[in-house]
Amino acid sequence: MQSLLALGLLLLLRLDGGVAVAAEDGRFAYQGFAAANLTLDGVAAVTPNGLLLLTDTEYQTTGHAFHPAPLRFLESSTTTTNSAAAMARSFSVSFVFAIRSRYDGLTSYGLAFVVAPTSNLSAAESGRYLGLLNGTNGTASDPILAVELDTIMDVEFRDINSNHVGIDVNSLISRQAKQAGYYSDENGAFQELRLNSRQPMQVWVDYDAQVRRLNVTLAPVQLPKPKIPLLSELIDLSLIMADKMYVGFSASGGWGVGTHHYVLGWSFSLDGPAPPLDFSKLPVLPRLGPKPQSKILDVVLPLAATLLVIAMLAAIFFFLWHRRRFAEVREDWEDEFGPHRFAYKDLFHATEGFSGMNLLGVGGFGRVYRGVLYASNLEVAVKRVSHDSKQGIREFIAEVVSIGRLRHRNLAQLLGYCRRKGELLLVYEYMENGSLDKYLYNKNKPALHLSERYRIIRDVASSLLYLHEEWEQIVIHRDIKASNVLLDSRMIGRLGDFGLARLYDHGTVTTTTHVVGTMGYLAPELIRTGKATPLTDVFAFGVFLLEVACGRRPIGSSKDITQVVLVDWVLEHHRSGSILDAVDPCLMGNFNTEEASILLKLGLLCAYPSPTGRPSMRKVMQYLDRDQSIPDLSPTYASYSTIAMMQNEGFDSYIMSCPPSNTSISIVPVESSVEIPQEGR
Ligand SMILES: *[C@@H]1O[C@H](CO)[C@@H](O)[C@H](O)[C@H]1NC(C)=O
Ligand SMILES: *[C@@H]1O[C@H](CO)[C@@H](O)[C@H](O)[C@H]1NC(C)=O
Ligand SMILES: *[C@@H]1O[C@H](CO)[C@@H](O)[C@H](O)[C@H]1NC(C)=O
Ligand SMILES: *[C@@H]1O[C@H](CO)[C@@H](O)[C@H](O)[C@H]1NC(C)=O
Ligand SMILES: *[C@@H]1O[C@H](CO)[C@@H](O)[C@H](O)[C@H]1NC(C)=O
Repeated sequence: MQSLLALGLLLLLRLDGGVAVAAEDGRFAYQGFAAANLTLDGVAAVTPNGLLLLTDTEYQTTGHAFHPAPLRFLESSTTTTNSAAAMARSFSVSFVFAIRSRYDGLTSYGLAFVVAPTSNLSAAESGRYLGLLNGTNGTASDPILAVELDTIMDVEFRDINSNHVGIDVNSLISRQAKQAGYYSDENGAFQELRLNSRQPMQVWVDYDAQVRRLNVTLAPVQLPKPKIPLLSELIDLSLIMADKMYVGFSASGGWGVGTHHYVLGWSFSLDGPAPPLDFSKLPVLPRLGPKPQSKILDVVLPLAATLLVIAMLAAIFFFLWHRRRFAEVREDWEDEFGPHRFAYKDLFHATEGFSGMNLLGVGGFGRVYRGVLYASNLEVAVKRVSHDSKQGIREFIAEVVSIGRLRHRNLAQLLGYCRRKGELLLVYEYMENGSLDKYLYNKNKPALHLSERYRIIRDVASSLLYLHEEWEQIVIHRDIKASNVLLDSRMIGRLGDFGLARLYDHGTVTTTTHVVGTMGYLAPELIRTGKATPLTDVFAFGVFLLEVACGRRPIGSSKDITQVVLVDWVLEHHRSGSILDAVDPCLMGNFNTEEASILLKLGLLCAYPSPTGRPSMRKVMQYLDRDQSIPDLSPTYASYSTIAMMQNEGFDSYIMSCPPSNTSISIVPVESSVEIPQEGR
């Protein structure tokens, strides 16, 4: 009879809408979980001494633990069935957790307190999703509220760091998150805490339904609840919560660091404060590592081995990278040139990695960089010449080295070379004032006085005399022009870049079709025969002389109809008796007329169309030194254009097709064309 009555009462209560059940189940406290009836899944388990262990393995896994019965989070409404109007109830949670990892400070993912409409979160993903969600956010019909204790910074979820507490609603992007810690009750100062410090810590989650505020507070286990919460968020849970929801924990671990996520105790209450936990009754965390001495084997050795492997890989990688980066081409026959060989690494460091800041200029044959050699502190100019020919490189290097033995005060000293695949690096003395053409054509530089130009021209003539007649071998420069004349710190002219044209000029002895030099400086017979001689250098010197005296390029721009070919233009002035009008207008008539007339006449003489009519460099020096006066030009002096007309069609067409600048060119039959950079220096 009594039992029947009890049954009847129970039925009545159930029919009443489960309020009593909810009220009855709305408050609990677990001081350890040995006797608890939790719904567990994943790797979650309760240890024999009552610890709730959510994850414990090396693998990427999750663990969930839920209070077995759902709780009613919405105020039950007897008057209406419209649940949208129902109001969320206040609730309060407190729990003690510990995150312990085999390697202190190395942890994976984290732990979360969770409120969800189901205790089956098997669709959720492990790892950074903390076992709460997957790529899909929570929804109004399938909501989720969580307080995450996150020990990994995930950029996609806009995590602030790898040690934070956050409030998550339907998404792992926290509504609010803060660095783990607490505000001291004594002075309000913020004290940082490390979630994965292996020490137990307590968390309180309190929701006040009246003011719709959710507070989260964290503190070390021995401290009472701090007055100021860590997180405090205005949030209307009425709009989020489902009526029946499960409360519990979720954690995810992995990454081979064996993180253990523990919950030691847990209390909960709807509509009132959670029952306080009695720390003395909480289960004890296991000692870390079975025996203290095996810690070395367990922790130090694997860590050391990992570090060793990483270090070795890094070393190998660095070695390969280094070798590739500084790779050079060196062949046996180069041994004899040993002392002139530079290590690419040294040149690389000298020019700070061929940085744009050190770029001096882009010449016809390649880029030139300023550098300081580390060992000697010597300032150098490094020219990078790209070449695609294997053939001829040996002869060229032999020549480079023999050129390196040339010594003259008016030559830019070549110090040595280095070879890389498809590339040659030439190291020269550094010339502080750059190349002469800058002073002729760059309006930012001051115009050089004619006497100064005269002196520089004499410097160049003197170096050419040395190359042609005074050294043990005859050396032909092949590319005399203003941009190849460099000025040192005392503005002394120094001829540079000799022999470079030779690199593109192998085989001239047998085939006569391959001409190298710069447009406008090429003697007519050089174009015809392809054979460079001292007198073709004299021709180029003559054009250079006119270039410097007139401040005009050898072949004017097509816009300037008054001067197409400089030599012809000066020749016309000469014939009409107004040669001094050809002098650079920048000088504004302020020059020594004797010097001007020597320069212009000598220029015309040197640029004489027929080689037999040109003086030798020794004679040129005598004219410049005024030891002899310049003979009158022969009346048969034909203009450059006239000569051009007399040449074969090939000459004519290349004159028309080449850009009218001081461009280094290579004239070759079309079928065997050699690429040469076309930029002016
Ligand atoms: C544990 O909880 C479940 C779900 O509420 C219930 O079905 C089961 O009987 C409980 N077991 C014990 C031993 O209390
Ligand atoms: C949990 O849900 C999945 C489907 O998402 C289902 O396959 C599985 O059986 C459920 N597990 C339990 C214990 O109900
Ligand atoms: C994501 O989780 C939801 C339940 O929360 C489930 O319905 C859905 O199928 C899951 N999606 C994937 C891709 O697993
Ligand atoms: C999930 O929710 C967050 C925050 O509301 C949002 O930024 C994100 O775009 C959502 N993601 C998806 C896949 O809907
Ligand atoms: C939340 O914290 C604020 C202080 O920031 C406090 O005034 C309020 O009472 C707290 N609410 C709850 C439910 O603990």
